[in-house]
Amino acid sequence: MLKLPHAGGRIRSRIQHRQLNRDHGYGGTFTNQILALSQMGYFSNSITAIDGLFSYASATDETVPVEQRVRSYLAANCVQCHQPGFW
Ligand code: HEC
Repeated sequence: MLKLPHAGGRIRSRIQHRQLNRDHGYGGTFTNQILALSQMGYFSNSITAIDGLFSYASATDETVPVEQRVRSYLAANCVQCHQPGFW
């Protein structure tokens, strides 16, 4: 977790595996971001399997129930500031 200097250090930026657990294009090759970051050495422990890891739903993926998409959107974009007792 990264604490930002805004609002007396109360605003936090938190990268969650649920946000990263999706494919991304790396120079034309699509692969899971968590596995790619692990292969690049960004994690202290190597990750070789992502089976069972949760991921946030894309807001535009209509194969996923709308409640799950809304919850994913709010979690990815709003929760870092909107915490109980905060805002
Ligand atoms: C960077 C921090 C931050 C993020 C991210 C953020 N908010 Fe807020 N939000 C605030 C703050 C601070 C206030 C209070 C502003 C005020 O009182 O003037 C607020 C207020 C609100 C309010 C109340 C507005 C009102 O008139 O009372 C709503 C609704 C809201 N946010 C929704 C969201 C939603 C939905 C998201 C995600 C899409 C989001 N916020 C993301 C910081 C944030």
